[in-house]
Parts: sequence; structure tokens; C-alpha cells
Amino acid sequence: MTNKIKYFIANWKMYGDLKSLKTINKVIKFSKTYKKKFKIIYCPPYTLLYSLKKLLKKSTLDLGAQNIHESLDYGPNTGFINAKMIKNSGAKFVILGHSENRALGESDMRINQKIKSAYKNKLIVIFCIGESLSEKRQKKTKIVLKRQIKNGLKNLSKKTNIIIAYEPVWSIGTGMILSNSELSENINYIKSLIYKKFKNYSILYGGSVNPKNINQINKINLLDGYLIGGASLNPKKLIDIIKKTFN
Ligand code: PGA
Repeated sequence: MTNKIKYFIANWKMYGDLKSLKTINKVIKFSKTYKKKFKIIYCPPYTLLYSLKKLLKKSTLDLGAQNIHESLDYGPNTGFINAKMIKNSGAKFVILGHSENRALGESDMRINQKIKSAYKNKLIVIFCIGESLSEKRQKKTKIVLKRQIKNGLKNLSKKTNIIIAYEPVWSIGTGMILSNSELSENINYIKSLIYKKFKNYSILYGGSVNPKNINQINKINLLDGYLIGGASLNPKKLIDIIKKTFN
């Protein structure tokens, strides 16, 4: 691990209801007693943002959304939510460029517009990048990462505070992870593209992170935290991941 603040981002995807929010109380309790420098950010579905904001009120946990529409203005976009609305809900962060949305047709250019729209509304972006299995097999990982970073982060100020989540698409929800040497190589590559562009950046890993593999992934000492999907729905697992990260 690096000596920057560690992020643990709980990406609930299309899971969770009002009842399941109660499980977060365990994590709130844990965060009050665990004396390390870390930040937990819950990114629930839109329907739970308001209730979760109330629940997190007296805690150090933060709130994020999972996507936004790129438009800065309100408008006739049925089923969508823009950065202004997310800001108004009390969230401070937003996940953008997630491969599950790229798979639905989100282009690098559109992601770039979303990122700009998020920053105009003072949201902090968790920008997801990563190669697919076929890109990995064709040894195109670096080309893909470079393209996603170049286009996605085009024309952003050097002062922008950016969180990058490296998530190989083939690792998400599959239980498969990279070898530590591959992971180190890719993280170092991402760093080499980012560090001149931005003063404040953090680089996280995401893809099947769980209490069983966290010790191994954590050995690379290059990461500023984790973006956790499936395992974040279970408070015990999330707490376990955090504790093992600092061990
Ligand atoms: P996973 O999801 O931990 O369930 O693999 C990670 C993500 O998609 O953000």
C-alpha cells in the first residue's frame, strides 16, 4: 500500500433496498473505532441515495452515485439523472466509465463529457478503466488503457482531484484476478500516464476483490485502495477487506 489515504469504494450496482441499508450500521460502527487513514464511499443505486445520506450523517463514510447523464442542464431525458441532481442528493462522488456502462455503448468521448459535468458540479470522479479478455489475449492492455485515459481525461485541469479504478473487465464478478506481476506492471503504466497530468490522483484496483484474495493483491504496495462490488454488499466482508489491507 502507498502512504496516501486509502479508499474503499462499495459499488452496490443494481442491488439493495431500504432494508439492506441497515447492514451498513456495522460498517459505520467499525469505522469509528478503527484508527487508520481510510475513506469508505458507498455507491448505492439512485433510489437509496437519499436514505443512505441520512444514515451516514454522523459518520465519516461518504456517498457516491454510479453514473450520471452528461448534460449540465435539466432536460427531457427520461430515466436519467445529471450531476446537479446527484450533488443535490448529498453525494460527493460518482463512478464513471464503468465497464458495465461502456458495454452498453458509453464511448470515451461521452465519458469525458460526464467527467467534466461532474467536476463542474463539484463531484469527485472515480474513473474506471480496464481491458477486456480478448484485448488482454491480444496483448492490447496498454493500448486500451492509454486510449481510455487520453480520451476520458481530455482537457481536465491539472488541479483536478481524480480517483482512477483499474478494473480488468474479465476480472469483474468472475473471481479471477491478475498475477501480482501483471497487476504491478499495469498500475505502474497507469501511474506513468497520470502523474504528470494531475497533482492529486489515487489509483485503485477493482475486480473480484474479496477477503480471500486481498492479502495477495495488497502485496504489490502500489495501490491507494479498492473498488469493491459483490463483496461490499456484505458488511463483514467489507470490514475484513479493510482490516487485511492494513495488516
Ligand atoms: P466485483 O465488482 O467486485 O463484484 O468484481 C467490481 C466492480 O465492478 O466495480
